[in-house]
Formats: sequence, structure tokens, C-alpha cells
Amino acid sequence: MEAVEEQQRRPWVVGVSGASGTPYAAAVLRGLLAAGESVDLVVSRASRLTLLDETGIAFRDAHWREDLTAWLARGADGKPDTFAVDVEGVRYWAAGDLAAGPSSGSYPVKGMLIVPASTASVAGVALGLSKDLLQRAASVTLKERRPLVIAVRETPLNGQTLKHLVALDEAGAVVLPASPAFYAGATHIQDLVDFVAGRVLDAAGVPHRLYRRWEGELGGGAGSRGD
Ligand SMILES: Cc1cc2nc3c(=O)[nH]c(=O)nc-3n(C[C@H](O)[C@H](O)[C@H](O)COP(=O)(O)O)c2cc1C
Repeated sequence: MEAVEEQQRRPWVVGVSGASGTPYAAAVLRGLLAAGESVDLVVSRASRLTLLDETGIAFRDAHWREDLTAWLARGADGKPDTFAVDVEGVRYWAAGDLAAGPSSGSYPVKGMLIVPASTASVAGVALGLSKDLLQRAASVTLKERRPLVIAVRETPLNGQTLKHLVALDEAGAVVLPASPAFYAGATHIQDLVDFVAGRVLDAAGVPHRLYRRWEGELGGGAGSRGD
């Protein structure tokens, strides 16, 4: 019975690269888990620096469950116990493990979300470098014609990155700049983070209630703040 259940698992691969924006990754992970999706998580080596800088959490492969739980509990404003999240649906793969499941097209997954995506990971995926598991899993996602969402976070963008993003768009990926909008009535930093995370989940077709959708009426955002 257990073996059958294992075969039926079809997770989303979530790749967290070393761009600023670890709260975006946390919000996407919470959203996937809240929607009942399973997740295969890859955290790049560089993203440990951004995670440490942005949350104070030193992410350890050997203690990933504990560190991930602390990370996902954290609000975008830095408050440590804002969310209660069960990470049971997560399988963790070390970024250097090129023999991991998501490095093969025969491993069953729904697709991949890179959140946030560094310009280095954008370049690596556009050029097919596969320098680590995150980049390899993204190349596999493209070759298998599965959904790939790339939440790039950098500003301004140089010409090289723009060319890489066009190449990724042409290869079938959704290029989704981590660019929050202000029409949904944001009053807190978490609202802006959740808007971007919600757009990532929209691109993946995963239902969520992370932000208030545009309903065709100007002033709705201000109205929701009671202005
Ligand atoms: C605190 C910090 C913030 C960073 N922010 C960004 C960023 O917003 N966008 C980006 O493309 N790179 C950023 N970088 C640089 C990347 O971490 C670096 O290019 C790294 O090689 C990315 O590797 P990876 O794609 O394997 O994770 C940042 C680095 C640090 C230490």
C-alpha cells in the first residue's frame, strides 16, 4: 500500500536560488502545502546566504525539517511565529545531489517553480548549464515540456539577463518578475509578498486566497483599507 502511495505522489519542485526574496519562497511553499500539493524542495548553496541575511536562519541539510518549519513560520515582517505550517508534504533534496529524483525526467513531478530566481540561475537554466540540482531540475522540466515558473528578482536588469529571459520564455517557461502590485489593497509587507506568491501559484494553476483579485472597479484597493 505504501509503495502504491509513493508512486502516486506528483510534487511541485520548488527551487530557491540566491536572489533576495526568501519571503516569496516561504509564501509559495505555504500556499502549495495549504492547497494539498506535495513539494520537492531544492535550496541552492547561495540561497543559504540570503536566507541567513533575511531571516537569521542558518539552513542545514541535516536539519532541513526543523529549519524549514522555522522559516515557513516566519512572517515577511520578521515575526517568528506568524504561521503554523506542517511540512509533512515536503521532500528535501540537497542542491549538490545530482542523483536526486528531480534530476531525471522519469521522476514524476507536476512542474517546477523557481522562487526567487537569481540572474545566475536564470543564466544557468537558459544555457542548460545544470551546475547544481536546481538548474538540472529546471532543464529537465523544460525538456519534459512541464510548467516552469521563474520568479526573477533583480533590478535593474542587464542585457544578458534580458536575453536569457527571452530564451526561457521561448522555451516555454513563464517569466514572472517578483514585482508586487498595489491594486489589491496591501497594507502590510506580507500582502505584497503574498501578491507575488499568489501570481506564481496562478501561473502553476494552484488555487489559493493569497491576494484579492481585480474585479473591474477602480478604487477597490483603497476601499478595502477603509480609506
Ligand atoms: C544578500 C544577497 C542578496 C542577493 N540578492 C540577489 C538578487 O536579488 N538577485 C540576484 O540575481 N542575485 C542576488 N544575489 C547574488 C546571488 O546570490 C549570486 O549570483 C549567486 O551566485 C546565485 O547563485 P544560485 O543561482 O546558484 O543560487 C544576492 C546575494 C546576496 C549575498
